[in-house]
Amino acid sequence: MSGKKAVLEIKGLRTQFFLREGVVTALDGIDLTIYENESVGIVGETGCGKSMTAYSILRLVPHPGRITAGSIRYKGIELTTLDQDRMRSVRGTKISMIFQDASTALDPVFTVGDQLGEVISLHQRVYDKKALQKKVIEALMLVRIAAPEKVITMYPHELSGGMKQRVMIALALSCSPSMLIADEPTTALDVTIQGQILKLLKALVAKTGSSMMLITHNLGIVAETCDRICVMYAGRIVEDAETFELFERPSHPYTVGLLSAFPKLGVKQAELPVIRGTVPNLMKPFKGCSFVDRCDKAMEVCAHKRPPRVEVSPGHFVSCHLWSGGERPGGT
Ligand SMILES: Nc1ncnc2c1ncn2[C@@H]1O[C@H](COP(=O)(O)OP(=O)(O)O)[C@@H](O)[C@H]1O
Ligand SMILES: [Mg+2]
Repeated sequence: MSGKKAVLEIKGLRTQFFLREGVVTALDGIDLTIYENESVGIVGETGCGKSMTAYSILRLVPHPGRITAGSIRYKGIELTTLDQDRMRSVRGTKISMIFQDASTALDPVFTVGDQLGEVISLHQRVYDKKALQKKVIEALMLVRIAAPEKVITMYPHELSGGMKQRVMIALALSCSPSMLIADEPTTALDVTIQGQILKLLKALVAKTGSSMMLITHNLGIVAETCDRICVMYAGRIVEDAETFELFERPSHPYTVGLLSAFPKLGVKQAELPVIRGTVPNLMKPFKGCSFVDRCDKAMEVCAHKRPPRVEVSPGHFVSCHLWSGGERPGGT
């Protein structure tokens, strides 16, 4: 990765929810850098902090949650302390987000043409009505919507799930963001449409030269779509490597467990397998490794000392005590 420019640099990010019952540490020291033109996948079980990572970057963490430590830099600009106006402009023009459910992002009372037109006129400064309509149609063609002239007059509820998702992608890309965050963008769609949308996303990201953070609990999707994969567990990134490397040499016992039911790259649509035990309660702070209770290889040190992040080979990072001594976990 050396020589590549970082678009997003996250260091020591902690996001917590302050509830009456106690403090939930949703993100517990996230370190993550995304470079130019790179697609990074974030995988992990439900509740491990994938969405909160995205919301923290965009400063959209819902109340009573907030960022309590760490730094998020976008091209050198610190986002955690940026004022609201500038943050809004980052959200509108630099970092776009695609949500799992398009219905939350599309306004039900405006037509597709109105919604896309508003964003395009704002960002590309097109005000002439004819010119704007042409741009809107182009944006819909880019996401391969058939009969765009008809679709611009339609309301969100008149569109299928796949079409809504395409419109949302068109909206997200119409401001030419340098970073696209897609949070489970295809989970609500059927498998065939999922594949089409992911292919489209991948092609558009390559074409526009933006970086992508793709969040999913589906290993098959990141394997096919992303250059690099971060594996999250209980609010932490436990392993981070290029896709091929991660599948060839998974090094954290949690990743090894995830991949054991997923032997080959290229196997489609594999959901995460079930690993014994359950995700820990994030209201209890961990002194040591968050995976200790579910790990077959746990040692004494794992319960009381947080494993350091070790670079086991160039660009391949693992946070596990098995690696602190430089030894590869055996037997898998
Ligand atoms: N509104 C909330 N109130 C309290 N805790 C929350 C809230 N939203 C998220 N969390 C906590 O943050 C954790 C991470 O959530 P999230 O990032 O949405 O998980 P994921 O997207 O990986 O499924 C959850 O396990 C939960 O403990
Ligand atoms: Mg989520």
